[in-house]
Amino acid sequence: MRASNAPTATCPYSGATLPAPSSGETTDQFAAEASPVAGTGVEAPVADWVTIPDLYENPFPIYQRMRSESPVHWVPAVNRYMVTSHAACHEIEQDEVRFSADENNSLMKRSMGHSMLRKDNPEHQVDRDSYGSTLRPGTIKKHWNEIFASNHEQYLGELLAKGPSADFVWDYAAPYTAENLRLICGFHNASQEDMQRWSQTMIDGTGNYADDADIWAKSAASSAEVDAAIDEMLPYLAKNPDHSLLSGLASMPIPLEAIRANLKMTIGGGLNEPRDVLATTVWALLNNPEQLEAVKNDPKLHAVAFEESVRWVAPIGMYPRETTQDVVLEGVHLPAGSRLGVVLGAANRDPKVFEDPEEFNIFRPKKPHLGFGGGVHFCAGTWIARAQVAQIAMPAIFDRIPDLRLDPSAASVDAGWVFRGMTKMPVTWG
Ligand code: HEM
Repeated sequence: MRASNAPTATCPYSGATLPAPSSGETTDQFAAEASPVAGTGVEAPVADWVTIPDLYENPFPIYQRMRSESPVHWVPAVNRYMVTSHAACHEIEQDEVRFSADENNSLMKRSMGHSMLRKDNPEHQVDRDSYGSTLRPGTIKKHWNEIFASNHEQYLGELLAKGPSADFVWDYAAPYTAENLRLICGFHNASQEDMQRWSQTMIDGTGNYADDADIWAKSAASSAEVDAAIDEMLPYLAKNPDHSLLSGLASMPIPLEAIRANLKMTIGGGLNEPRDVLATTVWALLNNPEQLEAVKNDPKLHAVAFEESVRWVAPIGMYPRETTQDVVLEGVHLPAGSRLGVVLGAANRDPKVFEDPEEFNIFRPKKPHLGFGGGVHFCAGTWIARAQVAQIAMPAIFDRIPDLRLDPSAASVDAGWVFRGMTKMPVTWG
């Protein structure tokens, strides 16, 4: 195993330091190992040229080179094998026997507890089933759409009041999606600002490879706040049920520990992604006027633009898995216990599947992207994300601010690779 605890690189989200090979494990040694293993595939090539800052700034040229060389590389800077081809990522998603989600020494488990996302079946399914029908299309149609529309009216109003210039992400997309998630979860005792703070600090914990005490302290403080909020809401919701996750969980025989972990994972995973896909889609449309015009003329295309955006810039760009046995993945040998990064951001731009994959193009032929994952961990919030972004927010934004444009005096910034989205998006109108 090429593993080490020596910290040497920077985490994309927290700015923390990530482990890389320990002294003595030179990249040349890795390269020397990249030779065929009889009957069991070849060793993964070593991508010692990949750095975390480069990935963070713009991973896509890196992914292009990696995919053209091999579907899998050992990447010292992230101390993982990075899997970049569509076929290899898809194979992992469909096979939880060989590729476990229950990663050893998972920082996510330390930060948020052992959620369904880091469990294999049968344990995973028990947790997943405990979410009941809250996130399903029927409940969204009957219940959530109206609430999302009302939240949208509020936060679009706040954006307009701030105008004629504002930041699309922080003045609108973030509070809107955080408020939706607050109600979906059932945190009637918290604010959307709490949701944003909890989400970011616990995500920072999941990336805290350098063991930074300050990051752990903030993550632990949020975790304790979430525990307290859950403890308060469960008895209340048992008596006053609603459509939220916590309300359903209040009457389920699920251990409190699992409820807490699953809610923390959902706070971490259900807020940034809709926020990021909303901003990325609008940014892409504003940069492609003919596609924007088509969307404005045919509201059905909002859903198409949303899906193309999730393909083009996967909001969850990479997630971990661990091999349970020696495997050969697309011809590459991986020893048992290998830590893998399933790089959806790269798989979704694989030219073997998508023509001109680097282009945002709502008119491309429909092909299955991997932006929502796949297999047993396929995103449970897919329909919620589609509803709040493509059905509610996007049509209203272009209807109410028909002359919305990117502010020519201030550049937008997109960043990240584990999570990727707009970190700054100044817009103007009027
Ligand atoms: C565009 C928005 C979203 C994207 C791109 C996205 C992406 C993903 C991906 C890739 C996974 C699988 C990760 C893995 O296998 O390790 C996942 C899982 C999950 N997502 Fe999402 N997500 C989005 C929105 C949401 C929302 C809004 C919620 C909740 C309200 C949510 C809840 C979940 C849950 C609970 C899981 C765990 C499923 C399981 O382990 O069975 N997601 N998501």
